[in-house]
Amino acid sequence: MRPVVIAACLLLLAPITDSWWASGSAVILDPRMVCKKNRRTRGRLAQICRNETGLVKEITKGVTLGATECAHQFRSRRWNCTTQRRSMRKILMRDTRETGFVNAITAAGVTFSITRACTAGSLLECSCEKGIPKPRRGHDPVDPPPTQESKNKWQWGGCSDNVRFGLKKSREFMDSRYRKRSDIKTLIKLHNHNAGRLAIKNNMKIECKCHGLSGSCTLRTCWWRMPTFREVGDRLRDRFEGAAKVIASNDGDSFMPESPSIKKPGKKDIIYSEESPDFCAPNLKTGSLGTQGRQCNISSAGTDGCDQMCCRRGYVETTINETENCNCQFKWCCEVICETCNVKRNIQTCL
Ligand SMILES: *[C@@H]1O[C@H](CO)[C@@H](O)[C@H](O)[C@H]1NC(C)=O
Ligand SMILES: *[C@@H]1O[C@H](CO)[C@@H](O)[C@H](O)[C@H]1NC(C)=O
Ligand SMILES: *[C@@H]1O[C@H](CO)[C@@H](O)[C@H](O)[C@H]1NC(C)=O
Ligand SMILES: *[C@@H]1O[C@H](CO)[C@@H](O)[C@H](O)[C@H]1NC(C)=O
Repeated sequence: MRPVVIAACLLLLAPITDSWWASGSAVILDPRMVCKKNRRTRGRLAQICRNETGLVKEITKGVTLGATECAHQFRSRRWNCTTQRRSMRKILMRDTRETGFVNAITAAGVTFSITRACTAGSLLECSCEKGIPKPRRGHDPVDPPPTQESKNKWQWGGCSDNVRFGLKKSREFMDSRYRKRSDIKTLIKLHNHNAGRLAIKNNMKIECKCHGLSGSCTLRTCWWRMPTFREVGDRLRDRFEGAAKVIASNDGDSFMPESPSIKKPGKKDIIYSEESPDFCAPNLKTGSLGTQGRQCNISSAGTDGCDQMCCRRGYVETTINETENCNCQFKWCCEVICETCNVKRNIQTCL
């Protein structure tokens, strides 16, 4: 009996964030590691790991999609959502707005990737929704957007993105093992996962195709389509900008705004409980890598401006040679022929 008890205790002690790591040097939240760690547990997560290997592959793709979009959204900021292990690991162990964004976009990426695979027919357990889609709460099938001749007939048809399956699997894989916890960090994590998923669910679009003689569009068939993942990233970035700080409520299993004068964050909002570092200098504890050596833009007043990016430490200017196409000529018909020219460009990098 004894060894079993000890093993159970070790499982309970395992920190909650570490399992999201890491394949080789590219640090991402690695679903295969999650599966390895949770193989012997009960519940939906282990079931997915044991017998839905196709799904786990899509989840992995979704995590990568989220990480790539995160790096895009933050490319011109001090914290650039780098997947370098020593940084991202710390970011995920904290509870700042950056943590919230990473959790939200990861959950969105997983939902997106699974849903896309369903539509493409590459998963056994799901397909797109054929025919009349079932109503979505708050998003019942509505009239498709009008065209020039909006009086024309339309009908549901084609292959709608089956976002419900993606949402469900994303919840099962990412949330189920946290359901029994009610510490503030876990509540915030689950909230932000959901905010990420809602950025897809609440922004489904209707797409239509015309039928009829020579493009006359006498009949249109329409279906639901997910927004592009870039749009999802843009929306979540807005939520990051307006993220709400929360504290634990007295009842111990919910959160509330830090100050009573602030309105309670909505389901779509990203929330956090810890202030972010300024990310100016390297700091092992916070996961900040600092901005020394980062390129900045002297003519920008935004986050990539040299003042902001370099935290007023100043910058060095270097001249780099680049090649570009030049003296292009249009040749009849139909080619464009260019020479390659060397051009010099000044770039600024933070001290
Ligand atoms: C996965 O396991 C469940 C229950 O053990 C079973 O019902 C289901 O058919 C399995 N799915 C696959 C794809 O093997
Ligand atoms: C992101 O920031 C890190 C640390 O400052 C830097 O090493 C890396 O090159 C940056 N990535 C991009 C794409 O700018
Ligand atoms: C620098 O910032 C200016 C002003 O925002 C912008 O027009 C320009 O394209 C930026 N340059 C680079 C290299 O990003
Ligand atoms: C850049 O171009 C100049 C000539 O325009 C050349 O002398 C120099 O060696 C080049 N530098 C590099 C690093 O290629």
